[in-house]
Amino acid sequence: TRVVVLISGGGSNLAALLDAAREPGYGIEVVAVGADRLSAGGLALAEQAGVPTFVERLGDHPDRESWDRALTAAVAAAEPDLVVSAGFLKLCGHHFLERFGGRYLNTHNSLLPAFAGINGPRDALEYGVKIAGATLFVVDEGVDTGAIVAQVAVPVHDDDTVETLTERIKVAERAQLVEQVGRLARLPWRVEGRRVVVDG
Ligand code: GRF
Repeated sequence: TRVVVLISGGGSNLAALLDAAREPGYGIEVVAVGADRLSAGGLALAEQAGVPTFVERLGDHPDRESWDRALTAAVAAAEPDLVVSAGFLKLCGHHFLERFGGRYLNTHNSLLPAFAGINGPRDALEYGVKIAGATLFVVDEGVDTGAIVAQVAVPVHDDDTVETLTERIKVAERAQLVEQVGRLARLPWRVEGRRVVVDG
């Protein structure tokens, strides 16, 4: 299974996928890594692993539509079977979803539908929930609204800060991502309404 990973940040989720991809039985090849900013630390990880990278910056385009087309073309050039957003801080547009919808996964650091958006752990802590976590889902047109592939729960400790909770979630999130991407690479699956149906 050919996988393109999209990132904006340090790329710890990407690193976990690159490690897993080295295992012969895991079943994925990371064929390209794309970012929306040059500062994405994960780009260096990809280069060290010998994986081609590309950067499509929104600011280099006259409008979002043009950026969306360019991103779609850059991803399509790698001919992926699956696209994984791992800390990619941009919403993809309709060209992207037309091309990769149903094969585009995102990992989010909250138990959706609670705490969608870019501050999942902070919002969970402020609300006072006692269980936080991470969600892997199939991206649709909404913000963090797609059909859920898997979720993992993480306890919130009384003395947690945003940093400690974020880190605890990330550990569980990475393990889930590796497990589920491997599963979806090996088995046939499809989205039926709000359900992700995996055969096997
Ligand atoms: C993940 O926790 C993701 O849920 C959030 O940003 C983090 C990405 O971290 N949106 P990294 O770049 O994979 O280290």
